[in-house]
Amino acid sequence: MGNQDTIYVTTPIYYVNGLPHIGHAYTTIAADGYARWHRLMGRSVFFLTGTDEHGQKVLQTAEGRGLTAQEHVDDLVVHWKHMWERLDIHYDRFIRTTEDDHTSRVSAVLQKIWDDGLVEKRDYEGWYHVGDEIFVTDKDVEAGKFDPSELQRLTESNYWFKMSAYQQRLLDHIDANPDYIQPESRRNEVLGFLRQPLGDLCISRPKSRMSWGIELPFDSDYVCYVWFDALLNYLTGIGYHPDADQAGDWKRWWPATYQLLGKDILTTHAVYWSTMLMALGVELPDALMVHGWWTSTEGHKISKSKGNAIDVSLLVDEFGADATRYFFLREKSLGGDGSFSYEGFLTRYNADLANDIGNLAHRGLSMTRNWLGGTVPALGPVSDLEDGLREQAGVSVLRLARAFDEMDFHTGLAALSELISAGNKYIDSTEPWALNKKGDTERLGTVLRMVLEVCHVAACCLLPVMPGKAAELLDKLGRTPGQGADTLIGLPERAGQGELSLDDLVVGSDVDPGDPLFPRIKELPASIAALFAADAEAEPVSKKKQKKSKKGKGRPQPAAQIAFDDFTKLDLRVGEVLSAEVHPQADRLLVLKVDLGESSPRQIVAGLASRFAPDELVGRKVVVVANLAPRPLRGIESQGMILAAGDEQVVDLVSVSADPGEVVR
Ligand code: ME8
Ligand code: MG
Repeated sequence: MGNQDTIYVTTPIYYVNGLPHIGHAYTTIAADGYARWHRLMGRSVFFLTGTDEHGQKVLQTAEGRGLTAQEHVDDLVVHWKHMWERLDIHYDRFIRTTEDDHTSRVSAVLQKIWDDGLVEKRDYEGWYHVGDEIFVTDKDVEAGKFDPSELQRLTESNYWFKMSAYQQRLLDHIDANPDYIQPESRRNEVLGFLRQPLGDLCISRPKSRMSWGIELPFDSDYVCYVWFDALLNYLTGIGYHPDADQAGDWKRWWPATYQLLGKDILTTHAVYWSTMLMALGVELPDALMVHGWWTSTEGHKISKSKGNAIDVSLLVDEFGADATRYFFLREKSLGGDGSFSYEGFLTRYNADLANDIGNLAHRGLSMTRNWLGGTVPALGPVSDLEDGLREQAGVSVLRLARAFDEMDFHTGLAALSELISAGNKYIDSTEPWALNKKGDTERLGTVLRMVLEVCHVAACCLLPVMPGKAAELLDKLGRTPGQGADTLIGLPERAGQGELSLDDLVVGSDVDPGDPLFPRIKELPASIAALFAADAEAEPVSKKKQKKSKKGKGRPQPAAQIAFDDFTKLDLRVGEVLSAEVHPQADRLLVLKVDLGESSPRQIVAGLASRFAPDELVGRKVVVVANLAPRPLRGIESQGMILAAGDEQVVDLVSVSADPGEVVR
């Protein structure tokens, strides 16, 4: 077990084959919340995140952009770092696998396991899955586990890490450490996987096929397999080196407290990573924390390759970093899946942030300003109502602390919501407005003091989750970070006494309601609504635009220039129309089923009926904007858009002959 007073938390390092989306943001926000929680508790924390920059996927994306791999990763990493800055992610190190500091250490690790006889060169003939960059067995191919279009038959010599030798040790470790893989369902999945004989792991790629990687120190015709390189970041990032005299202070942090990852990369961590550590004679991390997926409302995983990514920047632009962070940590339990919708986001924002905490703070602070001169009042004699509120504060904070310790923000924040609701109810039942009318200043002071104290506890608890807004609330309450307001040391212990005393504020200090923390948002902001806006045929909104464009006669004006990065946000795919029908509510629209090479066809509503009879379209290959956010058109959801020539009148479709699912650039 790691030292309880030092915390080392990691996220996966993300592939720079695209821009960050809500899935990546989710993992990174959770790790950041956890790191902040422990820093506030006075513990020493190291939080590592970064980018996975080698391998075929990244190389292919670079080639698609006409850049060298290095140019491509240097360009994209800026966007990743910028996104984390916008989300207030406070990492201790951002590691890039192309840094010399990482590559030289990986090279030393490769040399060590080679010298130790844990690697063997072998000929291989079999199936290779291009997308996942893995070799797959004939058995799995026959069982239909892989998409045949992604499989390549290969004959080549490669270096294999003798992973199979560690199967029993790994099983024993998982048995002896029930918390090693969390939650339990993922642990069981790994145990199930390990019931089959474990194979060896191919850790090389011949440069003749794929040269974007770390060269094997013992054979310059090969580079290291991207996963072997990437997983080692968790050690190289804190200064590990197999030669003790070249190693940094890594033992201060290792074994990691929590390594956070999505369930898509369970095997690479639970099996490859664990056995790699065994081979190096390094202790295993305390826990792998495996979270579920954010999916689209139709239940598809949000992913770069599926092209349904939700842009986090848009959420930050419209709702701010704090509300975005809160939503993701509150909305679903870490282990489970959750479906993302902007409506769901807005509902959560209004309910928890605008109505509950925002309202509590605004009521308490405004009444204090209006009736008590805007300074923290003294506590007078208390009644059962105050005792009840203190008890609730104790219970909520204790539950929150236990949950946050285990990265369970969902449960922790739900516990805090109970306290905030209790605070709002307390205002309703004590009726401070009546006390003010009666001129009962002492009782009014006690009541408002209790409300401000609840706001204070809430702000403290929210610091790891919403660092900006929580600090703003503390400031409104007359507490400034640096005056003991930026620590949570002792809070759970106090809550553990059964109730919180609720007397932290300083009598007489100034409070200021200022602007509401979370103004209510009645409808989706225009930039988001525009994602769903109906096309020309379907809705009056765009009819207005249509009229405008008629003014400028002839050809439509060329659109404003965009940066290349804006273009790369588009996921254009080849699709094949499987069926077409006239829309029951709008005879200019057709409802199409289009095969994009995904597990199920997309439903796309398109204004094509004035140009094409439904039957003419069946079997046609078209180009689809695959990552357009789904939007209802006259009541039927459209999951993409088909590219067509013609401005207001469709003249023709953009056609191609490639296979469904092929990328168009
Ligand atoms: O796998 N829901 O990188 P990656 C929740 N480079 N989380 C999601 C998600 C979703 N829909 N989509 C992605 C790689 N994630 C490797 C990792 S580590 C040594 C190498 C998050 O860019 C989640 O954490 O595909 C997932 O495990 C990770 O992004 C995968 O990111
Ligand atoms: Mg992935």
